[in-house]
Amino acid sequence: MIVLEMKTLKLSVLALFLLILGLACSKSGKPRYSITNSKAYEASLFRQNCAICHGPEGEGKTLDDGRQIPNLRDGDFKYKSDAEIYHHIAEGGNGMTPFRGQLTEREINLMVRFVQDELRSAN
Ligand code: HEC
Repeated sequence: MIVLEMKTLKLSVLALFLLILGLACSKSGKPRYSITNSKAYEASLFRQNCAICHGPEGEGKTLDDGRQIPNLRDGDFKYKSDAEIYHHIAEGGNGMTPFRGQLTEREINLMVRFVQDELRSAN
């Protein structure tokens, strides 16, 4: 009887251990980048200049006037290369403000890398 209980206990401990191991592994992927919590300069630029339209985490949204602002993280992206994204941020268009006068060339380049490396690849 006691032997049987010990065996059940060992099995339960083993099952629990495997469960925890499983949970640990499923969370070991790269965590989704949080713009809100990031202290990076690019993230603060995003919060100041882009979040009003694209949402605090770049998830996109529908403005009060019904305009649809695209998600910058998932989906089919319209501008794919660095040059296209740079041009779009600098010149704006289709409802987006041009940032050429507001951000320096260096800052626009930082935003291109931010979109490509943090937002688009973090999933
Ligand atoms: C006034 C609202 C507004 C602001 C502010 C704004 N955007 Fe946009 N953004 C848009 C709209 C609208 C589009 C869709 C344009 C199109 O379809 O050509 C867009 C598209 C984009 C795209 C292309 C998405 C794709 O599918 O390829 C990127 C990248 C982008 N914005 C980045 C930024 C960044 C970075 C900032 C801040 C520096 C910013 N946007 C600020 C409205 C805005």
